[in-house]
Amino acid sequence: MGAEALGIDHVYLAVRDLARSEAFYDRVMPQLGFVKLREPLHGEPHVHYVGRPFGFTLRPARPGTPPHDPYAPGLHHFCFRLRDEAAVDAFARALGAAGIEASPPRRYPEYAPDYYATFFRDPDGVRLEVCNFWEARRRRMVSGVGPLDTGPPAAGSDPGFTRLEAPGLVLRRFEPRDAEALAAYRSDPEVARHQGWTTCSLDEAHRFVAGLASLAPGTPGEWFQFAVSETPEGPLLGDCALRRSRTDPRQAELGFTFARAHQGRGLAAAAVRRLLDYAFSTLLLHRVFALVDERNERAQRLLARIGFREEGRFVENVWFKGEWASERLYALLEREWRAGQSPPEPGGRRR
Ligand SMILES: CC(C)(COP(=O)(O)OP(=O)(O)OC[C@H]1O[C@@H](n2cnc3c(N)ncnc32)[C@H](O)[C@@H]1OP(=O)(O)O)[C@@H](O)C(=O)NCCC(=O)NCCS
Repeated sequence: MGAEALGIDHVYLAVRDLARSEAFYDRVMPQLGFVKLREPLHGEPHVHYVGRPFGFTLRPARPGTPPHDPYAPGLHHFCFRLRDEAAVDAFARALGAAGIEASPPRRYPEYAPDYYATFFRDPDGVRLEVCNFWEARRRRMVSGVGPLDTGPPAAGSDPGFTRLEAPGLVLRRFEPRDAEALAAYRSDPEVARHQGWTTCSLDEAHRFVAGLASLAPGTPGEWFQFAVSETPEGPLLGDCALRRSRTDPRQAELGFTFARAHQGRGLAAAAVRRLLDYAFSTLLLHRVFALVDERNERAQRLLARIGFREEGRFVENVWFKGEWASERLYALLEREWRAGQSPPEPGGRRR
């Protein structure tokens, strides 16, 4: 193979009225993470919008050119890719707030089973699109593997999430009041022993909580931490976490951590069970897995108790706190989870 292009560096767009188009793109591009630079080129005013995937430049069109025709040779439309459906929804809301009319976001199964997009136009009539088209799918198309069998669709993320309830416990969003307890148990050497951190300051805990506020459970590639307490207003006892795979949203990794004072009560297992029910029933996951340091016996006992299968042992696969450590992989499929639940009682309720 020769060289492989890493992306588009920049695209030029000749516009009929530079000030009008600049005012329009000023309302759109910051929502997509682009920054603006104004720099004349060859004595002509140019407006650049520079983003991670590419940059594009508005330059004045030659006077007297005919209106934009999407079927004339040349540019038809720009399509921007966001992380997931929730991000497309949030973008569409921001466009609405900026007074720009766009089509309501929806699925377009004719493009792909879970293709989700919103469409709008710039002042010259150039079509703009924002969708959830995944990197993995694009790569498969590029590598010529042919139409991708994506299997049954997964549910989107859950931006409306507030809490999950189970007898005697609640999995809820983290709140600023939890920062102190979080910093305390994350700084306990017993709790941190097999985890990626060693200590956690109050500042770090506040930043951690603030970072979760705008995140939705089930967002591909992002860990979402659920605060666990006995009642919705109760103090923080521990947390459970789920990170959906970025490349296959029907799979997710699980994590859990409890303050020492709240271990050995069966609370962690009850919270993980409630989270699994949510993962399989609401997020429609197919498989949940956990990677555990093989010296972490309590975590392995918890996983085995819930019905996770051990799938493998990795030998000295991670450099961890100054030495090579070995990890074990545990997983649970949705059908295994359902089979492990007690059968419905005659009234249809589970025991
Ligand atoms: C992993 C961790 C969450 C397990 O906590 P845990 O409280 O032992 O887990 P469970 O909720 O399953 O509780 C089971 C224990 O409670 C005891 N228990 C007491 N009352 C109980 C009750 N009513 N119901 C069930 N179990 C009860 C059980 O006997 C069991 O103890 P044992 O394992 O010594 O036999 C906890 O050790 C932890 O936070 N560790 C630090 C973070 C970490 O390493 N996380 C894992 C990263 S992958």
